Parts: sequence; C-alpha cells; structure tokens
Amino acid sequence: MQKVGILGGGQLGRMLLQAAANYPVETYVLENDSECPAAHLCDHFTKGDIRNFDAVYAFGKGLDSITIEIENVNTDALEKLEAEGVKVFPRPAVLKTIRNKILQKQYYAKHNIPSPEFMVTETRQALQQAAHFLPAVHKIAEGGYDGKGVQVIRKQEDLPRGFDAPSVLEKMVEIQKEIAQMVAINSKGEIALYPPVEMVFDQSLNLLDYQLCPAAIDDKTLWKVEAIAVQVVKNFESPGIFAIELFVDRNGAVLVNETAPRVHNSGHHTIEAHFSSQFDMLWRIILGFPLGNTDAILPSAMVNVIGAEGFTGKANYEGLAEVLAIDNAFVHLYGKKETKPGRKMGHVTVLSKEKQELIHQANKIRGLLNVQSTSE
Ligand SMILES: Nc1ncnc2c1ncn2[C@@H]1O[C@H](COP(=O)(O)OP(=O)(O)OP(=O)(O)O)[C@@H](O)[C@H]1O
Ligand SMILES: [Mg+2]
Repeated sequence: MQKVGILGGGQLGRMLLQAAANYPVETYVLENDSECPAAHLCDHFTKGDIRNFDAVYAFGKGLDSITIEIENVNTDALEKLEAEGVKVFPRPAVLKTIRNKILQKQYYAKHNIPSPEFMVTETRQALQQAAHFLPAVHKIAEGGYDGKGVQVIRKQEDLPRGFDAPSVLEKMVEIQKEIAQMVAINSKGEIALYPPVEMVFDQSLNLLDYQLCPAAIDDKTLWKVEAIAVQVVKNFESPGIFAIELFVDRNGAVLVNETAPRVHNSGHHTIEAHFSSQFDMLWRIILGFPLGNTDAILPSAMVNVIGAEGFTGKANYEGLAEVLAIDNAFVHLYGKKETKPGRKMGHVTVLSKEKQELIHQANKIRGLLNVQSTSE
C-alpha cells in the first residue's frame, strides 16, 4: 500500500482524508495542532511545523508521495525529498513560484497569460511613488490568505495603508464576475477540467458570499477561461490539482487573479455535485489511477459556514437542525473546536436543477446557520 503524507491538517486535509478512505493508501499528516480537523482521520499523525526543514524532511522520508493543503510549507525540504525519490504533488518548484505573488505574477507575464497589470514595490516608502498607477490593489508577496494581505488603494491618500514589505501593486479591474476554474493534471500530462464556478457577492446585505456551479457565462467566455487555465497549468509541468481564480472584466476580458496548486475552497461542491470530487481526483493523480469524471451530476450552490462577528470560543452551531432538514442540502462541519470571527467552520452544498432554487436555499442557509460561541 502506498504511503502518502499531507502537509497541513485543516479542513482541506480532512476532506482529502475522507476521500482517501475509498482507496488503497496509508495516510500521514504533519501539523502543529494535534486537535486540528485532519488529526483524527489519518492513519498516522505527526505533530510538527510544516515550515520547518527538519520536521518536513523527517516526515517525508520513507513516504511514497507527499501533498499539501496549504502553500506555506518548507519547499527546501520538499526539494530534497523529491531528489531522493519521493513524489511531490505539486512539484516544489511550482509551490515556490505560486506562494510568492511577485514570482506568480512574473510567471503569468512570462507565459503570456492575461492577468491584471502590475508593478513590484519593495517598501511602503517606494509605494508612495506609485500614485500614477491608481486605483490599484496592493498584495503582500508572501503570507497573505483569505483577503488578509490584500489592501485596496484607490487614491493617493490611501497609499500609506499599503504593506511595508515586498508586494505587487495590481491595477484595479472593473470586475463583472469572479470565476474559479479547477484543473486536474496527472503524471502523464493528461488534463481534466471541472465546469467553472461563479462567486456571488451580496454587498447590499453585507452577508457572506456563496458560489454557483456552473458559472453563468457565455460560451466564448467559457472557452477563454478554459484555454487560459490550461495555459497556467501546462507551463508548471507538474501533476496535481489547481484552482485558478479569474476575473471577467466589464469588457468581457478574462484575467487570471491567482492560482492555488491544491484542493481549494471553490471545489467543495464537487464532493456531492460531481462524479469525481476534487479530493477523489487528487488521490487518483497521486496513486496513478485514471483521472475521474469531472461532469456535474446536478448544478449546485455552496455556502461557507463562517464564525460570526463578536463570538470567540467554543463553537455552537445555531440553526443546524433546520439546515439538516433541507432535503437537497449537504452539511459539512470541519470539527474546529473554537470559533472566531471570519473563521471557516464548515460549508453547505445544495443541489438542484433549478438555479432559482439554488439561490433561494443558499440565501436561506446563510440566514439560518450561525456559528456562535457557547457562553459559560
Ligand atoms: N486587481 C484587482 N482588481 C479588483 N479587485 C481585486 C483585484 N485583485 C483582487 N481583487 C479582489 O480582492 C479579492 C482577494 O484578492 P486575492 O484573491 O488576490 O487575495 P487572497 O488573499 O488570496 O484572498 P482569498 O484567500 O480570499 O482568495 C479578490 O477575490 C477580488 O475580489
Ligand atoms: Mg483569492
């Protein structure tokens, strides 16, 4: 039986392990928190720092393959393991490019992949000279996630809000739609594309966003999205699963925002809504089985379950029974003991042939399910 390690033990690792239960594989997880979402679903748990060379190297030695659920890992250790014959999904060189936004943007430019125009700023001081480039979005090169590490700079007065660290300053795009395209590529270079999804933001109500699959885009836009996504992935020359976030701008141009070289939040709906989920697909790639069928069984909506503002502590899921009573909804809780504002605590997928029903249920679920903390 192949031995496969996962760096990181969050919800992505947890759902990857749920899918692993269907395959001949022995699973290993490295993570600092021994109460993390993935800790109790793997065959072997190792407590350790995924950013530390020795911890990652010791963990990976003796494994057949290793994958990640977060980019912020020790890539030097992964390169050494790769040189010694451990297969790494995605290849460490790809991780190095992607997890630094400057290198990632330069990669798109080098391969003529459309992406918002950008400049590099090394310090906050240097950023002050960039007034001619506004409105723009400042993104810290390393360490940002879930919108932390992203700062909108509309006008000159906003410049002092930028990061005092190596960053990219990206021209502000007039976004018509935000799309995510999931791409699977195996060790033979065979590619499978999932239908793209669409992020729906409800700014007026200031509620959480939800996601729809398939994205409502015309054929021409779909072809652009697919062609660009394939370009992104092919040039990496690495097997794995990739989530490419794209913008469709006001003129219908398609631009790459960023790529995640791993299973991703935008693919959660594939667990119930597609023949082969993103997690199932990654096991097929790692274990050398044929690629799975990416077709949708039914259209879907996905709602993230997020820790409510103002509540920190032991998680309590208000409205859970009501959501479980919805007969086309699938509830996933990630087993995180503690909630805090904005923390991803779970997600709910809804399936229906009718788009109106998807939207209706997604909105209903956002209103019903509320993660608070139990008062002691
Ligand atoms: N150039 C841009 N023009 C307009 N809006 C942008 C631009 N870049 C980013 N945004 C907005 O900011 C959001 C977050 O940016 P980005 O995806 O780069 O950061 P992130 O830290 O990876 O966030 P997340 O983890 O939520 O995806 C995007 O989804 C988009 O709504
Ligand atoms: Mg993003």
